[in-house]
Formats: sequence, structure tokens, C-alpha cells
Amino acid sequence: DKSGYKHFMAKEIAEQPAVLADALNRYVDQDSISGPIADLDFTDTTGITLVACGTAFYACLTAKYWLEKLARIPVEVDIASEFRYREPPIAKGTTAIFVSQSGETADTLAALRYCAGKADRILSVVNVAESSIARESDVALPIHAGVEVGVASTKAFTCQLNVLLLLAIKAATDKGELDQGSRAKLLETMRALPGIFNVALDRDSVIETASAQIAEARDVLFLGRGLMYPLALEGALKLKEISYIHAEAYASGELKHGPIALIDKSVPVIVFAPRDSLFDKTVSNMQEVMARGGKVVLVTDAAGAQQAGSDTWKTIILPEVDEVVAPLLYALPAQLIAYHAAVAKGTDVDQPRNLAKSVTVE
Ligand code: M6R
Repeated sequence: DKSGYKHFMAKEIAEQPAVLADALNRYVDQDSISGPIADLDFTDTTGITLVACGTAFYACLTAKYWLEKLARIPVEVDIASEFRYREPPIAKGTTAIFVSQSGETADTLAALRYCAGKADRILSVVNVAESSIARESDVALPIHAGVEVGVASTKAFTCQLNVLLLLAIKAATDKGELDQGSRAKLLETMRALPGIFNVALDRDSVIETASAQIAEARDVLFLGRGLMYPLALEGALKLKEISYIHAEAYASGELKHGPIALIDKSVPVIVFAPRDSLFDKTVSNMQEVMARGGKVVLVTDAAGAQQAGSDTWKTIILPEVDEVVAPLLYALPAQLIAYHAAVAKGTDVDQPRNLAKSVTVE
């Protein structure tokens, strides 16, 4: 039941403050991590391999930044369909993590089976707790997003990010890289997110207006740096899957290695850039785009908007958050841009052509 929303996707986007709050309650107790993540020990973990498909893969790419930065553990990330046939060596001390909303994705399951007996331990991050991937892993960590009906993954993505960030915090604690005070502060930041999500969702009408114009483009580019790079990839996937607009994402620093050749006044360039430690670099990439007539849609915070000036085509302003948690917040405008562009184009938002919710065959 769509509870009054026009589409399941709109309902599932709007549910994110509530499901995230619920998931946090299950995994965080005051200023420490509780539940199944608390029972995991990363002291002897020397490497982590993350494997998934689609949106879940982009959650894994985000987790690589978190795990490497916070826990200082080397991380490999791979697309399940490549991983399974490449048959990579799995070093001793490796924890393998498989991320899947459905828990039934054929390639992800095959990749998990390849790691069985090779990795020290197999974890899964799933939404469907009784799924094959959950059953076949040593420890299954449910994301608690609730049933997701829309083919385009939304609340599952933010809930995957939530569990993966908590895993990174636990790993960092076990590795002696995060003291109690910093951990408490980070967990407090995470617990403030559901309220901040509500503020971001209130910007919906601004995003809707911008998206109606984005929907007129034939091609759209997404840019981001650091933690915003995987999010740019997710934004492009979301847009192409439901609006059928050609979209590509690049790490901002890659722009001058090729994609800048595509820039002209017909190409909207969506830039995810909170005013973080990499902001200045992203702004200079943005200026390169604008100097070539590209239409920049800047998604940032108030400080970022002020520093970027008024030459952008559109600016979407979000609340300011600690840069570690920014991917969860910036996922919301990424989803809303795709949603409103698809509605403007009149496509079948919940059941896009050629796609299935769960890909159980190769
Ligand atoms: O069920 P899974 O998380 O394993 O599914 C993986 C992908 O098929 C899925 O994320 C797909 O990319 C979505 N339609 C993206 O919105």
C-alpha cells in the first residue's frame, strides 16, 4: 500500500527518517555500538573485501572510504559478476562482506560461495533477513529498512550505509584508531541524522523544480570527490534507471582526463559538494565546467553555496553535517532528482522497463 503517495518510490524516500531511526536504535546504545555488530572483533582483520551489485555496490564503495580512513584497514571493493569469475586470491586475515537488499542476487551469492572456506569470516548486510545470502554467511547484519517495493533502491541504500558506517566505527575501535570520545561524538552525529533527513525532505519542492528542467536534457553528468564520488555514481544510476536519461558519473578530478570534452550548454552537471576538506578542489572543477557553458546544479550546504557564488544554474542547499555522514544525507537529493525527473518524463517510476527488483539469474 502506497499510504497516499503516488509511487512506492516516493513513499520509500519519505520513510527514510523513520527507518534510519529504527535501525540506529537496534545497533546503537547510548554512546556505544550494541547488537550483532558489537559482537564482531576486527582486531586480527588485515583486509576487508566488499562485494555487491548496483546500488549495493555503491554502498560498498562508500564503505571503502570509511573503513580505510577510520579503521586504517586496506579494503577491496568489487562488482559481484566480475569478482566471481576473476577468482581473486583471498589473503589470510580477510573478512569478506556481501551487501544485498534482496539477499538473492545470483552474482553476489556466487561470489559469497567462492569466498566460503577462503575468507576468515563471511558477513552479509541484507534487508531480507531470511534470504540465501543471509543464511549462507557467518553473520548476517540486517539493515532494517522494511520492505522495499520500488525497483529503484532508496531506503535500502541509506540503511546499508548506516550499517557499513557502524561496522567501520567498530573496526576502528578494535584497531585502536578511534578513542571513546571520538566514537561517542560520531554516534551522536549519526543519531541526529533522522531529524536532518526531515529538513532535507522539506526541500523537496526546490528539487522538484530543478528536476523538471534536468528532465529535458539528453545527457547528465554527476560529479563528486571523496565520499561524494560513490554518491555521484549512485545518483547517475538512479536517474538512468527510472527516467531513461543518459547519465554518467565521474570523480571530479577525472574531469580533465576526458569527460570535460562533453560539456556544453545542453549538459546539466550535478555536483555533490558539501563544504568539506575537498570543497575548494571541487569548486575549481565546477568553474571549469561553467567556463565551458555547462549548467551546474550544485548540491551543497549554506557555507558551500556562499563560497561557490551565484554562477551556478541551480543550487540545492542541505543542512550542514559532519563530512563522515554526508553520503547518507546527500543520498536524499540524489534520489529525489531521479524521482522528479522520471515523474516529469512520465515513465513508470516503480516498474522501469527491462528491470526486475531482484536479479536472481545471471
Ligand atoms: O538485491 P540487491 O541489493 O543485491 O540488488 C542489487 C542491484 O540489483 C540493485 O541495487 C539495483 O542496482 C537497483 N535497481 C538500483 O536501484
